[in-house]
Amino acid sequence: MKILVINGPNLNMLGIREPEIYGNKTYADLEKMIEELCAEEGIEVSVFQSNYEGAIIDEIQKAYFDKVDGIVINPAAYTHTSVGILDALKATAIPAVEVHLSDVKTREDFRQISYAGKACVKTYMGLGFDGYKEAIFYLKEYLKGK
Ligand code: DQA
Repeated sequence: MKILVINGPNLNMLGIREPEIYGNKTYADLEKMIEELCAEEGIEVSVFQSNYEGAIIDEIQKAYFDKVDGIVINPAAYTHTSVGILDALKATAIPAVEVHLSDVKTREDFRQISYAGKACVKTYMGLGFDGYKEAIFYLKEYLKGK
């Protein structure tokens, strides 16, 4: 089983950006947690982060040609703006799970729409790093059932 974890803009600033919302752990900590969990679970994983919408779309398209089985995606701010990321997820039809560190439902109005989420089989929010864990477990079970 091969999965891709995608993180959008400003997530490379974890540990620095708004710690009261996103916590004190760094992006390197997040990568390490995901890689260790996947190693334990016998999942091949690639972790990608970009601040550029087009680079995220390119990575989703590449996942199709690389025969990636599943995607975990935190599109960050592009969640609320990007029809391009939604279309890329739909184009590849790779099962995807959406993750947000914070509970976006309880935040500003402009965060209430998720375009990417419309192409995802499940969403986890407000669980911090654990949301990625849950997403990986969910995806593993989901892909087993396919
Ligand atoms: C986020 C929530 C988004 O609204 C925000 O723009 C982010 C991070 C989260 O993980 O909670 O950058 O996706």
